[in-house]
Amino acid sequence: MNIIVFDNLPSTNTYLKEHYREYPDFTAIRAIHQTEGRGRLGRVFIDDSKQILLSILLKESISPNHMNLVTLFTAQVVHEFLSEYLDNVLIKWPNDLLVNGKKICGILTESIYSEKFEAYIIGIGININSTDFPEPIRDIATSLKLETHQTYEIEMLVNKLTSRFEQSYPLFLKNPVLTTSYQNLHSALINHSVSYQYEGKIIEGTVIEIAENGTLHVLSNQKDYYLNSGEVMLIKTKASIER
Ligand code: BTN
Repeated sequence: MNIIVFDNLPSTNTYLKEHYREYPDFTAIRAIHQTEGRGRLGRVFIDDSKQILLSILLKESISPNHMNLVTLFTAQVVHEFLSEYLDNVLIKWPNDLLVNGKKICGILTESIYSEKFEAYIIGIGININSTDFPEPIRDIATSLKLETHQTYEIEMLVNKLTSRFEQSYPLFLKNPVLTTSYQNLHSALINHSVSYQYEGKIIEGTVIEIAENGTLHVLSNQKDYYLNSGEVMLIKTKASIER
């Protein structure tokens, strides 16, 4: 993968949104510092310059059939990558990776339309050498260093992660449903009680599985819901309960 490194950007996702025409498919934009890193649902992604801050551009290679699974595929790739160093990583559908219940990675996928579909931008933020997080996330974030007590060379990790993405991508295109099986094996949510804001109402229920189309299957008052990642906000999860 072609990796372009910037010392400083407001946000690698925003940069690619503005410049995607200038770059070929499978370009990765990496920033050492980000001043306006963005997360899902308008949240900020705090930068301490000790993270992987990366956005991958997908253009011709992505077909509309695979779009809603591409975030799940990315979470799979990051999970495989982190599992080389840690043995207790879980995926919190649709876009976070957790270690011992704390967030180590967030993924923000954005699409660009200009009359027709143009591109996908997959933003990945992974806490690598961070040791001290600011107050709002202090108790809910972790890093590779905090978990393993080692310091990592970020450039080497970026090369490993992007190679893994590129190597696994053809298989994903051939059989996208495989990524939902992977999610189900490593999900932080299955059998957990969750509460989601969905179409203006609160759905409280138990997570059954990640369905083949990438939606989250929740059972609430004996009714099945298939939640789409773009439409829901997780309000809370409770410890594991019996189904
Ligand atoms: C989330 O936690 O909701 C998603 C966080 C995604 C953060 C990454 S960092 C690189 C890329 N650029 C951004 O502005 N956001 C993503």
